[in-house]
Amino acid sequence: MKSILIAALAAASLMLGGVAHASADKAGAAGCMKCHDVEKKKMGSSFKDIAAKNKANKDYAGAAAAKVASGKGHPKSAASEAEIKAIMDWVMTL
Ligand code: HEC
Repeated sequence: MKSILIAALAAASLMLGGVAHASADKAGAAGCMKCHDVEKKKMGSSFKDIAAKNKANKDYAGAAAAKVASGKGHPKSAASEAEIKAIMDWVMTL
């Protein structure tokens, strides 16, 4: 019983690792990583800081995606709002 649980947890963490990696690649492809980093402040805040600061706001990922896609109050991104929303959903897990 216990070993089944451990195997399930190991599989789940492998899957989570895969998702996180795919999203970091997405953020890179969308150009976010030119100005943001997961850990460190560059021109923009680190994604971990952004996640920590806005954790309490359940609507933040959607609102931030709209802001970044519109280019108002943020350098305009060529990525679609849906792509940016997917990246923001990942950012909020950091
Ligand atoms: C040309 C540089 C640049 C690029 C490219 C860029 N950002 Fe930013 N971003 C900034 C700056 C500058 C700020 C404002 C300072 C701050 O709050 O970090 C910012 C702020 C943010 C914020 C906080 C906004 C707020 O008002 O809460 C989010 C979220 C964000 N960026 C996400 C992204 C995502 C996602 C991408 C990729 C689609 C991206 N950024 C690409 C420079 C950039």
